[in-house]
Amino acid sequence: MFLITVYRRINCFQSQGQSLDLVFLWRVFFIMAACSISNINAQIRYSVPEEMKKGSLIGNIAHDLGLDVQRLRSGRARIVSGDSTEYVELKSDKGILVVKERIDREQLCAETTPCSFTFEIILDNPVELHHVTVEILDVNDHAPAFPKDIIHFEISESATPGSRFQLGSADDPDVGVNCIQNYIISQNDNFVLKQHARQGGVKYAEMVLQKPLDREQDPRLFLIVTAIDGGNPRRSGNVKIEVNVLDANDNAPVFNQSVYRATITETSPIGTYITTVNASDADSGTNSLVSYSFTNMKVIGHIFTLDERTGVITLSGILDYEKAKKYEIDIEAKDQGGLGDSAKVIIDLTDVNDNTPTISVMSFFTPVSEDSPPSTTIAIFSVKDVDAGDNGHVICAIDRNIPFKLLSSLRNYYTLVTDAALDRERVAEYNITITATDSGSPALSSQKTLNLKVSDVNDNPPRFQKSVYTTYVNENNQPGLSIFTLSAQDHDWNQNARISYLLDETTVGGSPVSSFISVNADSGVVHVLRGFDYEQMKNVRVCVKAQDGGSPPLSTNVTLEIIIQDQNDNAPQVLYPVQTGASVVAEIVPRAAEVGYLVTKVVAVDVDSGQNAWLSYKLQKATDRALFEVGLQNGEIRTVRQVTDKDAVKQKLTVVVEDNGKPSRSAVVSINVAVADSFPEVLSEFTDFTHEKQYDDNLTFYLVLALAAVSFLFITCVVVIISVKVYRWRQSRFLYQSNLPVIPYYPPHYADTGVTGTLPHGYNYEVCMTTDSRKSDCKFSTLGGQNVLMVDQSFAETMQRAMKKNELLEDSGECPEMVRSPII
Ligand SMILES: *[C@@H]1O[C@H](CO)[C@@H](O)[C@H](O)[C@H]1NC(C)=O
Ligand SMILES: *[C@@H]1O[C@H](CO)[C@@H](O)[C@H](O)[C@H]1NC(C)=O
Repeated sequence: MFLITVYRRINCFQSQGQSLDLVFLWRVFFIMAACSISNINAQIRYSVPEEMKKGSLIGNIAHDLGLDVQRLRSGRARIVSGDSTEYVELKSDKGILVVKERIDREQLCAETTPCSFTFEIILDNPVELHHVTVEILDVNDHAPAFPKDIIHFEISESATPGSRFQLGSADDPDVGVNCIQNYIISQNDNFVLKQHARQGGVKYAEMVLQKPLDREQDPRLFLIVTAIDGGNPRRSGNVKIEVNVLDANDNAPVFNQSVYRATITETSPIGTYITTVNASDADSGTNSLVSYSFTNMKVIGHIFTLDERTGVITLSGILDYEKAKKYEIDIEAKDQGGLGDSAKVIIDLTDVNDNTPTISVMSFFTPVSEDSPPSTTIAIFSVKDVDAGDNGHVICAIDRNIPFKLLSSLRNYYTLVTDAALDRERVAEYNITITATDSGSPALSSQKTLNLKVSDVNDNPPRFQKSVYTTYVNENNQPGLSIFTLSAQDHDWNQNARISYLLDETTVGGSPVSSFISVNADSGVVHVLRGFDYEQMKNVRVCVKAQDGGSPPLSTNVTLEIIIQDQNDNAPQVLYPVQTGASVVAEIVPRAAEVGYLVTKVVAVDVDSGQNAWLSYKLQKATDRALFEVGLQNGEIRTVRQVTDKDAVKQKLTVVVEDNGKPSRSAVVSINVAVADSFPEVLSEFTDFTHEKQYDDNLTFYLVLALAAVSFLFITCVVVIISVKVYRWRQSRFLYQSNLPVIPYYPPHYADTGVTGTLPHGYNYEVCMTTDSRKSDCKFSTLGGQNVLMVDQSFAETMQRAMKKNELLEDSGECPEMVRSPII
């Protein structure tokens, strides 16, 4: 028996790349089988490719066993035990083995190689048993296949070159050269493929990162890996590989501008949008989350707010152009990974005219003297406006209608000077309002008021409303009586206006005027220091000086004319007939006297004046009222009827002389009238005149002598007086008048031994002359030619009063112009 064993080891992995001609192989096996036929238990081995069609010849078994077909038939050759007998069929009639079922090597053997099955063919008569082994040769009937269509990778872009990414292996059920020989990867920049063989020879591939990924450039990569087997033709299988490049925070945020500029007005309210900064981060996801912040947060954090997320810068504080004209803010943008960029934001502020000018007075000279010359500096001040440009350009002005002006030598410095003469009496203080206005739009202005006081200079004298004041005072006034108040005005101020009234020290009638009147220095009240006697002086002119308290003082003179008014304080004085207490002088009326015969004339005077001196005469008592009448006005006593013999020789009349004052004063005079034709007759009647008889003869003589002497003396006096007056009163302004008119004649021999005597003392009359001789009130009265004058009691009293008054005046040494005229 021949056991033909053909071992043909076909090791796919040891004979790579070799392609065998199946037909050729088959013939070889056939020859080998034929050569190895033994007698009985021959072994036959066939090799057939897989996937042959049903009925395809596996081998000519009859031939190979060296049997003819008859034997086979007779021997009822048949396939007996064995595995996988379902794949072959013995066609005894032809002596061949054919494929009964399609043989799939991969199914039959899977990975096992070589793949074969064995069976026996048995023949009867005689029994022969033959082993037949059919080896199934692989055919490249499978393409490599990957377990998945697509493989996803998530690879961080930060993966370093050399990183490996397993692709696993593709599957190819074929064996040997038909199984996977090679992997290739589609064209790309980043990856290369490396293949490895596992134990058992399975090839697998891995991708090796060659060049770093960049998500920002290629966030996804699509690759195709192809597995290629070694069959003929080659088969391949693909797998798609999708690489998602995972972001790595490899990109810093980048500001799209390195400098942002914005402009904002300084008065913008809080919340005003300023600008938006923007930084972009090429990374994705959280890596691209950029947060913004100020670098120097502390400085400007309270003024500006930067939204961390949006990059919006808003105003959150108060801006002041005057403090900062621009802000340069460093900002930075950071992503989550801490990568960052910085930029600058320049915020320019625009000025708004929000600051009023300020006026600061550096020096202010108040008060200013009213006699300051023009251009006297009053104040120096400066103005300031912190705004910029026109908004800070300040113009100063003051009111127009005040006598001041502004000078500016230096920008923003002003000097306020006087522009005209000042007069405190007209305007005592000025409110100088300085207005500083800037040139903004709208303009802002501020004011400052300087209260300038004008200090007084004693430039106004006291002023009276009149230059001469006249006041009236009744004679016999109370000493100390205030008769007038002088009042002057002085427009100056305070001390300069404090007026003192000073009586000018002149003399009035030889006496200092201050002995008559006093002027209260403060109040100007004029007091009379003594009672005036109208009969002594009719008026007093005093000069009062009103003087202020300035330095030097200014003064004004005023004349106060005090006119003394008459009062009826003097009774009429009967000058004729002169009466003594007891003496009797009789007027002689011839019996042949006609009606209207002037018996005598009562002569009376009243030293008062006016009405007070207006005398009227009335017959008070008469022996025979029907015989005489008295002229009411002139005092003439006349007969009213024819004297008859029956009329008594001795007639006595009482005449009342009354002045017209209120109340009136009066004097009474008694007149003896003798109605007789001859003097002896008279004597016989007036027997009580005996003691005067011895003088009768000489009476006329004495009267004439006395009259002549008196006249002479008077003339002499007058001449002396006129001379003296002319000399001494040339400068005198005070007129001193008295109209004591009469120098009566008192015959010394009639001096009575009675009450008043014969005026034993020198009796003074004051005769005053005015400088104006035309107005002279002096009267010289000579009463002569009458026989006898007697002074009666009342007249003596009057004279005594007058004397007392004169003595009073003499005591005070008044009036040097008075001339004393002794009475003879
Ligand atoms: C000046 O201003 C003061 C205070 O406001 C005021 O009392 C005074 O009367 C003013 N004087 C003048 C002259 O306007
Ligand atoms: C006032 O009168 C006095 C003397 O009578 C004189 O010296 C002075 O100058 C006068 N003053 C004026 C202002 O008239």
